[in-house]
Amino acid sequence: MKRKVLITRGVFPEIVEALAQRFEVEHNPEDRPLPPEELARRLEGKHGAMATVMDRFDEPLLARSPELRVISNIAVGYNNIDIAACSKRGIRVTNTPGVLDDTTADLTWALLMAAARRVAEADAYVRAGEWKVAFGVRYFLGQDVYHATLGIIGMGRIGQAIARRAAGFDMRVLYNNRNRLAEADERRLGAVYVERDRLFAESDFVVVMAPYSAATHHLVGAAEIAKMKPTAILVNTARGGVVDDAALVYALKHKRIAGAGLDVFEGEPALDRGYLELPNVVLTPHIGSASAATRMTMCRLAADNLTAVLEGRTPPNLVNA
Ligand code: DGY
Repeated sequence: MKRKVLITRGVFPEIVEALAQRFEVEHNPEDRPLPPEELARRLEGKHGAMATVMDRFDEPLLARSPELRVISNIAVGYNNIDIAACSKRGIRVTNTPGVLDDTTADLTWALLMAAARRVAEADAYVRAGEWKVAFGVRYFLGQDVYHATLGIIGMGRIGQAIARRAAGFDMRVLYNNRNRLAEADERRLGAVYVERDRLFAESDFVVVMAPYSAATHHLVGAAEIAKMKPTAILVNTARGGVVDDAALVYALKHKRIAGAGLDVFEGEPALDRGYLELPNVVLTPHIGSASAATRMTMCRLAADNLTAVLEGRTPPNLVNA
């Protein structure tokens, strides 16, 4: 008898077809996350779930899905899943690391540059028909990126991909990470390890690339923002909750820092409405890894992970060994 799998969100048809050759697949084809009760109901009797970071797998949900053997996240992050509860129940959790590093680094740079050079603001100005004088010496003055100091908090694979790109702009790169990199890696990346306070104080651009956990909750809050230069720009493409949104809205509103580029938010998609009124922040809807090629690769990897567990093999990307 075929094992049963739930795909919680709209994915590419070829992924559904491939899984359907091996498993009995139920697929929510929509881009709408399943409400918790619907997710619980649709998970009943399933052996595997292919899920996104918007699907919360906690103990009460797992208790209603005793047959579940694997949760395959289509994401590198897995803060949506209670890993300890899964391990206790023998549920394997997998993710998709490695395949989205460069795509996410690219979007981080897109936000950094858009905020530095006020691209979204200038675009809105042109579209609104406000561009009446052809050239203004003082139009949309922004910050230079080249030769500036970039501070990266979280120097894992994506942080390192962000650092590599800084070489093209002749930037000085500072970083802070739970563990300091090997000397050879620091040399290769041209990155200098510093304490967090110094990173905030000396960086023109602060990029947050730390995973969300209780330890990183509001890692960047009012106190940290107060240490930044008034000309500095903050970029978060990691996770909502790592930055304190209320503190950042306040700082941007009162020009405590110059700007921000944000792809992730606390409680997304219901972001702090304060952001919407601010011209000095560039907002994108959690699209860090959203290139066509990378999202397809992530889905393929998630399908491989799920298949491996349900066929009794070790999956390529096991989170809870
Ligand atoms: C990730 O891979 O964790 C991205 O944030 C997509 O969820």
